[in-house]
Amino acid sequence: MDHFHRTGADGSDDLHVEGVALTAIAEAVGTPTYVYSRATLERHYRVMDDALAGLPHTICYSVKANSNLAVLGVLAKLGSGFDIVSVGELERVLRAGGEPAKVVFSGVGKRDDELRRALQVGIRAFNVESAFELERLEAVAAALGQRAPISLRVNPDVDPGTHPYIATGLRSSKFGVPMPEALPLFLRAAQSPHLRVVGVDCHIGSQIVEIAPLVDALDRILTLVDRLAEHGVALDHVDMGGGLGIPYRDEAPAPPDALGRAYAERLSPRGLELIVEPGRLIVGNAGVLLMRVLGTKGGALPGAGDDPTAQAATRFVIVDAAMNDNIRPALYGAWQAIEPVAGEVACRGDPAPVDVVGPICESGDFLARARPLPPLRRDDLLAMRSAGAYGFSMASTYNSRPRAAEVLVDGDLFAVVRQREDLASLWREERDLATFETALRSRGPT
Ligand code: LLP
Repeated sequence: MDHFHRTGADGSDDLHVEGVALTAIAEAVGTPTYVYSRATLERHYRVMDDALAGLPHTICYSVKANSNLAVLGVLAKLGSGFDIVSVGELERVLRAGGEPAKVVFSGVGKRDDELRRALQVGIRAFNVESAFELERLEAVAAALGQRAPISLRVNPDVDPGTHPYIATGLRSSKFGVPMPEALPLFLRAAQSPHLRVVGVDCHIGSQIVEIAPLVDALDRILTLVDRLAEHGVALDHVDMGGGLGIPYRDEAPAPPDALGRAYAERLSPRGLELIVEPGRLIVGNAGVLLMRVLGTKGGALPGAGDDPTAQAATRFVIVDAAMNDNIRPALYGAWQAIEPVAGEVACRGDPAPVDVVGPICESGDFLARARPLPPLRRDDLLAMRSAGAYGFSMASTYNSRPRAAEVLVDGDLFAVVRQREDLASLWREERDLATFETALRSRGPT
């Protein structure tokens, strides 16, 4: 459930976020703009928390899904921990008020400076993904005179049944340590005076709609846990990563409480704490991308043949958001709902299939293809739903398009939580040719 609806207090059937009409946000902030609902964020966090109430657990929200400081702050205030993959994400969490002792650090390539900083602030666990990382971490911890808490990320070799780019627990993927190598690596870590084995970790993929692959992964991990126990290595926690999917269209993802029950059944008898790293589940349906129609163009849809009516029909709706704002459709062929913000648009006529495209100079720049939408006109506002996760966090400035603004709604109020980038910010870190040449001259021929 979310807090996006068409029942305004004034009786309007325009799309609202909590108590705020999206038209009001577009007017005040412009477009394209990401709009997040605080009540929805909080609700999704609590749904996950309640689903795991039967066992000791920590939710480590996966920062990569949406790393806006205000979003992180809302979650930190609820007591969430955080799953990070870079020192940048770590600093964001700290800046947002997150507790370092509830941070887990994932990722296949952590630099020494990142390991050092995370050790200094005292994170909960390093999700170690390789033998070489274990060595680096041991060296960095030794130099600091510390003992690094480690959780080995294993690759359980299960197929999560999702898009190949976001399936991470197959033997062929770059993530984690293959199961057969895990035991010796754990045993080696357990011998080190600079490492403390605290857990085992996996993350098999994203947008998973069945619980079976997750439970299967846990079963495989528990076999490893038992073998470790035989060798006298006891763990504090099992981290099952993130990955539970959300309804984008007509998917019916398994509810978190079904997963919670399956996890509890297996973990409670062993007295192990559960860590989960949900990202999409918490923020995905808590955000929309608000955009405006720049104009429409004719052209036939593929397969329309020479039919002149089909040729004349609107084929493209060109909007002011593009693949640089939300790359998911272009990159994964992702489907996200798009709807007109004003309720009256639906009364204009029957929906007909159109491509919703951005201004970027690539044919891959589409937000939706052959999508049935009512007749649209210049200046109509559209909302792309389910845009809270991996929307802004994957945005770029391709085609020198400043990144969108971000707004957080809280009840009847809203405020900007990230300014729209200005043009100068596009080249703020760059040097023009004259500056470059001056720099060369001052250095001499080296
Ligand atoms: N933990 C780890 C180690 C991860 O790699 C990820 C996501 C998560 C947790 C959170 O997964 P979630 O609960 O959000 O499924 N950009 C893609 C998704 C990439 C996911 C990468 N890893 C998309 O837009 O669909």
